[in-house]
Amino acid sequence: LASIEFDMTKVQEGQQVVIKWQGKPVFVRYRTPAELQRVIADDHAHDLKEPQSDADRTKPGHQQFLVVLGNCTHLGCIPTFGSGDFGGWFCPCHGSHYDASGRIRKGPAPLNLVVPTYDFVSDTRIKIG
Ligand code: FES
Repeated sequence: LASIEFDMTKVQEGQQVVIKWQGKPVFVRYRTPAELQRVIADDHAHDLKEPQSDADRTKPGHQQFLVVLGNCTHLGCIPTFGSGDFGGWFCPCHGSHYDASGRIRKGPAPLNLVVPTYDFVSDTRIKIG
């Protein structure tokens, strides 16, 4: 399937749902207000290897939601939700730490978790691809 739709009401605040798109895992995460506040506060942190603001990685009006490919940008393992030093994901393969915006903050991964092409097709549905 080239594109898929997903109903955002299926993901609870503070959680993620993992869906499959083109054979890859996609993390759909509903960040809490505290998580959102933290990632925005870190928009200009000096340890960002691939500097991007959280707003660059989300959709206007829906910034509580983050949609990223669930493969570590080091060698492709699937990072663990909610762990690591930055409260985002931790990749157990070689120890990469991502924040709740999916930005790489520490460890061998070179790049942020990839935001796929997607858009909101209604207030509660996204289309990926
Ligand atoms: Fe994730 Fe190596 S594959 S740190």
